Amino acid sequence: MSTITSNKNIPQHVKRLAQNRETPFLAINKNKVQRKFRQFTEAMPDARVFYAVKTNSNKRIVNILHDAGSGFEISSKDELDLLLNCGVPGNKIISSNPLKNIPFIRAAHGAGVKYFAFDSETEIAKLAEHAPGSNIYIRLTVSNEGSQWPLSRKFGVETEIAADLLINAARHNLIPCGITFHVGSQCIDANSWGNAIKKSRLVWEMVKAQGIELKMLNIGGGFPVEYVDSIPSVNQIATAVNKSLKTEFPNGIDIFTEPGRTFVGEAGTLVSTVIAKAKRNEENWLYLDVGVFNGLMESIGGIEYSMYPEKTGPLQKWVVAGPSCDSMDVISNEIRLPEPEVGDKVYIASAGAYTTAYASRFNGFPIPKTYLY
Ligand SMILES: Cc1ncc(COP(=O)(O)O)c(C=O)c1O
Repeated sequence: MSTITSNKNIPQHVKRLAQNRETPFLAINKNKVQRKFRQFTEAMPDARVFYAVKTNSNKRIVNILHDAGSGFEISSKDELDLLLNCGVPGNKIISSNPLKNIPFIRAAHGAGVKYFAFDSETEIAKLAEHAPGSNIYIRLTVSNEGSQWPLSRKFGVETEIAADLLINAARHNLIPCGITFHVGSQCIDANSWGNAIKKSRLVWEMVKAQGIELKMLNIGGGFPVEYVDSIPSVNQIATAVNKSLKTEFPNGIDIFTEPGRTFVGEAGTLVSTVIAKAKRNEENWLYLDVGVFNGLMESIGGIEYSMYPEKTGPLQKWVVAGPSCDSMDVISNEIRLPEPEVGDKVYIASAGAYTTAYASRFNGFPIPKTYLY
């Protein structure tokens, strides 16, 4: 359970925006996005960075990261079109979703995208036909234990199958170039990457023994943001990652990484309004105009947000829920807040990642608009 005692963490700029804008809306601090990108690239100077566009596909965020020198990781034709409209060239785009539809593969190949992930024979066949000559990298299953938003079961293969698939890809008109993994999103165990790098090395050696020299390791995303509890810093994780890379691959290899959450999460504040209050079975319920379906989807998977009502005062326990007529729409089962009134603003911190990107208009409630400041 989180305890919120003051709203001093809410930037003045956001409070000013809240004075004359309809809620819910997402305020993104441009400088913070730039700073997060810079800190990351300084901590991992040898890695090529590809922002995972799914995290927040706002066009202005894409432009900021493009100007800063980032590449991009995508899964769909819409994401590809967005990047092409922003002037991102195909050679700065990769696709690490091992399950791609054929129209997307064709469009990406046509636009000059040369790197695709895979984890099955089916994907080899599709890529060989619709993106011949591409560099393809295998998605390896790795432990997601340190992650608060695991991504393991749906993707990836174990070491021996990974090696077999890479070897088989070389028999088609494709270049087996490397390995990718994802330690799970919001990963708070800095050792997770090291364990995954060690496992990748096994596959690397297996295919080498069959005459195939891989070139690239994609260490995925997973770098966490601060919601309620403290987290390891990017520098701490980078130190662990760089050390593992040096141990496992002392001669140096191409390193790719595709962070999402860490670049935009803490840059975003979701501004909402209290629409109702109720007492049910001794519980205090607070209802906001933003909920699970129009922005805070990750709260049902266990992500806890810090919330700051505009007024301070004595703390009470609250269950906080969204506006829809669905009882899944509960954002926090227990949070201590000073009591807000209907019409008061509630600021939700670290809400720039996987919020508007997931939002729907379910039950007629609007998707928060995004403002950059
Ligand atoms: C293939 C892939 N790469 C990168 C990311 C970004 O991960 P994160 O936001 O945890 O950095 C994701 C997230 O789902 C992903 O699926």
